[in-house]
Amino acid sequence: MDWTRVGGADAVDKQLLAGQTLSFTGNPFLEPVETCARHERDGAVVVSDGRILDVGERRAVQARHADAEVRSYGSALIVPGFVDAHAHYPQTAIIASWGSRLKEWLEKYAFPEEAKMRDPGYARSIAERYLDLTLANGTTTVCSYCSVHEGSADALFAEAERRRLRLVAGKTCMDRNAPEMLLDSAQSSYEQSKELIGRWHGRGRLSYAITPRFAPTSTPEQMEALGALWKEHPDCLMQTHLSEQVEEIAWVRRLFPDARDYLDVYESFGLAGPNALYGHAIHLEPREAARIREIGAAVAHCPTSNTFIGSGLFDLDGLAVGGVRVGLATDTGGGSSFSMLRTMAACYEIGQLRGAAAHPCQLLWLATMGSAAALGLSSCIGNLEPGLEADLAVLDLRSTEAVAQRAEHAEDIWEELFPTIMMGDDRAVVSVWADGREIRKRP
Ligand code: GUN
Ligand code: ZN
Repeated sequence: MDWTRVGGADAVDKQLLAGQTLSFTGNPFLEPVETCARHERDGAVVVSDGRILDVGERRAVQARHADAEVRSYGSALIVPGFVDAHAHYPQTAIIASWGSRLKEWLEKYAFPEEAKMRDPGYARSIAERYLDLTLANGTTTVCSYCSVHEGSADALFAEAERRRLRLVAGKTCMDRNAPEMLLDSAQSSYEQSKELIGRWHGRGRLSYAITPRFAPTSTPEQMEALGALWKEHPDCLMQTHLSEQVEEIAWVRRLFPDARDYLDVYESFGLAGPNALYGHAIHLEPREAARIREIGAAVAHCPTSNTFIGSGLFDLDGLAVGGVRVGLATDTGGGSSFSMLRTMAACYEIGQLRGAAAHPCQLLWLATMGSAAALGLSSCIGNLEPGLEADLAVLDLRSTEAVAQRAEHAEDIWEELFPTIMMGDDRAVVSVWADGREIRKRP
């Protein structure tokens, strides 16, 4: 990879990053797009001590911070670092595996690879590779499932801490319907998750997500134990999967015949609440959508995965316009890309298939503020706003010939950004900042 790893040494006290800037002033699913973003063609962001200190028109910002060291990115666009609201880092090496639907895909590809994570050395190497790939794509925070092994969570947390990244993650819990070597139990999942919370939750920029994989791979006893654990640690996120494929929903109905619907299974074990994050949530019953909104839970839209595994078309408009917190996610490796740009493109395409094209402002908002809010982190990350943590991505809006020739005659920033969303990849990401330091840059 033609990337320079930067960092190690602490950055200068105060740095001024000059370029185009784009920040959000509202939620573009609830307010008109024109009122939701602020764009400066000649803008600047000042970063100090890991935080954003100032954002705005360059001349004014520079006058206020004459002591800052200036870093110019020319006409590149400075945006908040991308936030991936749902991923499985242990599936890094089996991304883009061909030809099955969810259950068979898990059995054929995901479970055998996740079994390899019992080796802490392997887990460490995958954690490094995964964070290298996400950073190269401008993603500065992920919310990831680990494997069932405690050590796989330790590996990812340690690697994120070493890079001073914000991370949400949790050991996956499964005590049935998976290979024997990947099973824990109600008690061991409770104990190991609790240990991991003690070790990592709230340490620096790290936080823990209690992670029952999904209803088919947990017994009622395990879900009850994890519901009890969440009650003891209500500030932890609780992440799981919900209504991804029709066959999966039928399976859940067979396993829990008394439940009103899929969400009701989780509700009955204390696995629903404002800090719940449900992955996929495609085939929701009206009651489920209404209940998610009522309890203030969030959902993660995983568009490349939903097309790749053939799961279905997420109702973005119905949920986000209806007031549900929606984050955007790669779902690596059921998803087919590490790139949040590609993920935004797939989100757009699914919107088109549903007859509701998302505006570039909505796409970028989902990949930054929307995901941050879904993770309960909007007071920390997701926007260019004074006081927030300085996690940034700098995008070259002319990264390839194909992109450049379209962007060249754009009439506003959205028309200029959209070709990069639709056709861009890691070549568009010229610099990545995390915790106020440039940690990746293209030579
Ligand atoms: N449902 C349960 N586990 C998984 C997983 O690993 N990937 C996806 N896409 N769906 C799941
Ligand atoms: Zn998933």
